Amino acid sequence: QLPVRIAPSILSADFAKLGEEVRAIDLAGADWIHVDVMDGHFVPNISIGPGVVKAIRPHTTKPLDVHLMIAPVDAYLEAFAEAGADTISIHVEAGPHTHRSLQHIRQLGKRAGVVLTPQTPAKALDYLLEEVDLVLVMSVNPGFGGQAFIESSLRKIEAIRKMIDKGGYSVDLEVDGGIDHATAPRAIAAGADALVAGTATFRGGPDAYAANIAALRG
Ligand code: DX5
Ligand code: ZN
Repeated sequence: QLPVRIAPSILSADFAKLGEEVRAIDLAGADWIHVDVMDGHFVPNISIGPGVVKAIRPHTTKPLDVHLMIAPVDAYLEAFAEAGADTISIHVEAGPHTHRSLQHIRQLGKRAGVVLTPQTPAKALDYLLEEVDLVLVMSVNPGFGGQAFIESSLRKIEAIRKMIDKGGYSVDLEVDGGIDHATAPRAIAAGADALVAGTATFRGGPDAYAANIAALRG
């Protein structure tokens, strides 16, 4: 099994110093930079848009792992691709044609990711695993950082790990929400190979980032 990738979510960073924060987590050992995009419609919060992705792009060479919590999403895919996203993930619940949107992301030359909210069954990935480079399992309801890990997501991660391995797909399995030193090893044991962490990365300020990230590797 591959070593786990850690993707700090900049949702918990100091937005007034975003370039500095991105450089700090890069230096502290982040594998990917996770960018949470919220539209105030699909989720009850508004965060950032493609302009911010473009602004942070020069501050790191690490992949930008862009998580779109937007519906409808299609009109924005090109803007995030041009802004410098490396992976673009969309929610299966955002509709209307997830398969088409995933194909579009790959046509734009980006890695395509599909996201499941806590209530969405693993089965929603049937007929989609061929079209994606990453599956993102949300272990909290999307919209906010700092929420408690939802236990049933472990069963879902196990089920998806089996689907990926059985089908021989080359797909990353990432978990997002409530990841800390206690839940990270459980998500890894269930089959995750990438972890998003907002609160657990940024707590304690810049001097703590490296230790915070290291503590998540299990
Ligand atoms: C929630 C976001 C998450 C969130 C994770 O909608 O997708 O990436 O920021 O935050 P923590 O790690 O604080 O649960
Ligand atoms: Zn996220």
